[in-house]
Amino acid sequence: MSSQAPIRRITAPQIRARKGGDPIVSLTSYPAHTAAIVDRYADFILVGDSLGMVMHGMDSTVGVPLDLMIMHGRAVVRGTKRALIVVDMPFGTYEESPEVAFRNAARIMKETACGAVKLEGGARMAETIRFLSERGIPVMAHIGLTPQAVNTMGGFKVQGRDEAAWAMHLDDARAVAEAGAFALVVEGVVEPLADKITAAVEIPTIGIGASKTCDGQILVLEDMLGLNPRVPKFVKIYGDLGPAIERAVAAYAEDVTARAFPGAEHIYKPSRD
Ligand code: KIV
Repeated sequence: MSSQAPIRRITAPQIRARKGGDPIVSLTSYPAHTAAIVDRYADFILVGDSLGMVMHGMDSTVGVPLDLMIMHGRAVVRGTKRALIVVDMPFGTYEESPEVAFRNAARIMKETACGAVKLEGGARMAETIRFLSERGIPVMAHIGLTPQAVNTMGGFKVQGRDEAAWAMHLDDARAVAEAGAFALVVEGVVEPLADKITAAVEIPTIGIGASKTCDGQILVLEDMLGLNPRVPKFVKIYGDLGPAIERAVAAYAEDVTARAFPGAEHIYKPSRD
């Protein structure tokens, strides 16, 4: 029998305790196979509702159904051992009331076995964040550019260009931290505002298109692998996999067309008679 201790997953309180410490590494993942690779490097993996746009060709995240998030959440939990898995609550599943949010968040936690949920919104979601956190559901908050609000924002727009709005974003950050969120995604805000938000709250900030002073960073995996045709400007491409996949698919098509595709001869042993 092996004497090795079982690998324990990173928990939401452990992420919370990283405020001001070593930067928190995180990425999104939607299927089990990429999640298994990301798991070796990331402190948490987000099953983001960006999957609607990145994997399912939607124009925004507004149409993502809860069942789809649960299906991908399950796959990512199955494919990983170490990272905290955070699953996004999709649009329409938490805004109505804390009770509705609890019911849907509890479904996500029970049916995926993830360790936390994420929801978008600042001060207006504080009551819901408190309600969930006090009832056993760790909540990651998300402020700044909140993609589920694309229709009221009038597009995916960088926030805080006008300094007059900074106080509102800072109030949002303080409200969700005070309500019990264990971490806060700060997306698409001008750098000096992201710096102020990080300094203003006692929970870790996770930047995306924000600032390097955030307590951690997150990227959409397909964006940094060059697999998303609509990559935001701030994303550094760490591996341009699109051309490599295209070369492999073209070579396969050529083999099939030329009847050079290996058949089953290597596994077929003709009988002696
Ligand atoms: O849905 C998502 O992938 C996200 C990240 C961009 C933070 O919310």
